[in-house]
Amino acid sequence: MINGKKVALITGIGGQDGSYLAELLLSKGYLVRGIVRRASFPNTKRIDHLLAKYPSDSPDSPFFLRYADLTDTSSIRNVIEEINPDELYNLAAQSHVGISFQNGESTFNINTLGPLRILEGLRQMKSKCKFYQASSSEMFGTSSPPQNEQTPFRPQSPYGIAKVAAFHLTQLYRNAYGLFASNGILFNHESPRRGLNFVTRKITRELAEILTGQRDKIILGNLDAKRDWGYSKEYVEAMWKILQQDKPDDFVIATGETHTVREFLEECFSLVGLNKDKYFESSDHYKRPAEVPALLGDPTKAKTILGWNPKVKFKELAKMMMAADLKEKFEQAGIVPVDVECKNSDDFYIAKAKELAKLL
Ligand code: NAP
Ligand code: GDD
Repeated sequence: MINGKKVALITGIGGQDGSYLAELLLSKGYLVRGIVRRASFPNTKRIDHLLAKYPSDSPDSPFFLRYADLTDTSSIRNVIEEINPDELYNLAAQSHVGISFQNGESTFNINTLGPLRILEGLRQMKSKCKFYQASSSEMFGTSSPPQNEQTPFRPQSPYGIAKVAAFHLTQLYRNAYGLFASNGILFNHESPRRGLNFVTRKITRELAEILTGQRDKIILGNLDAKRDWGYSKEYVEAMWKILQQDKPDDFVIATGETHTVREFLEECFSLVGLNKDKYFESSDHYKRPAEVPALLGDPTKAKTILGWNPKVKFKELAKMMMAADLKEKFEQAGIVPVDVECKNSDDFYIAKAKELAKLL
């Protein structure tokens, strides 16, 4: 605590979830600190507005960043010692399942040894800091839906296996050493800030590019996989609630609805009034050596204990993401004026897209 304010440290603060979590905690009066790793090109786009708003990194500043890397034990230890957080949210990861088949070792180094380095640091420092681990529905793998906290883990990727090990390490440090260490088992969650090579964002962005004449086709892999897709901004609220409990525990966070990748593709094409068959191709290039066929979360425990209820479901999420990418691409192409204050509604961009679709 500093001047009566809680201090939170977020790893992966520059990522989709980290950026929304930072905004949420700042709105609750926390002092928020984040770690970013060195990059050859800026990796803070999602939090640049916070860096501009809070330029100071004095000890009582609401927001600042430090360089550290989850693969570098001393960098992590130094930051934890300097910041002395009340709550630590470990969101940093090599988060792409498909790429984990090519980068297995570094995925394990970041996604498994990373949380181990943090947990061991907290233990050795005798820290009272609460620890949140970003666990994943990918851990359930081929276990039949619906999946809840009792469902066995049958992971199907280096990413999933690394996350299972980190899940168990989090439980181990809780049970063996009494750390307040909790897992959020989050099902897929998306937003306009989603990374460009996850399937939802790939579809909404590339469809916007088709409408602006920058692309001919969207090329995808397996369309039959089913996912339980929610909204990242709502999911980070669940992360916070998990650390506000009296005791550490593990929670499934999901919408309780599932849809295929094909349905997401069709929903986006139907929103803008285009026939997908002319603009879409399937390729083995994007298929994985092993696949998680169907994810559908049962969030009953989170609803009952955390009082967490997701509002944004499949159709609203697709529309929000589609509109955000249309806005960006239309503005870049000079099709609409730049709307700095975001006064135009999602319907404005969808209507413009339908006009352009008729000309294709
Ligand atoms: P994301 O957008 O890919 O963000 C991951 C963040 O981790 C990025 O800021 C990345 O930095 C950082 N990072 C990667 N390697 C690092 C390292 N060695 N040291 C320090 N930072 C590093 O992922 P997300 O969607 O926000 O997900 C957040 C967490 O939740 C991840 O752990 C993910 O595995 C997990 N999760 C996500 C979902 C989902 O559907 N989104 C579901 C379940 C669990 P760079 O920008 O420099 O790469
Ligand atoms: N990325 C991608 N690109 N996926 C494709 C494509 C494509 O071109 N074509 C089909 N897919 C299929 C994948 O095979 C998978 O079945 C599904 O679309 C979703 O893929 P992603 O959006 O990459 O997400 P994910 O489910 O593999 O992983 C995400 O969710 C996990 C939680 O279950 C990531 O956010 C993980 O970090 C997270 O843990």
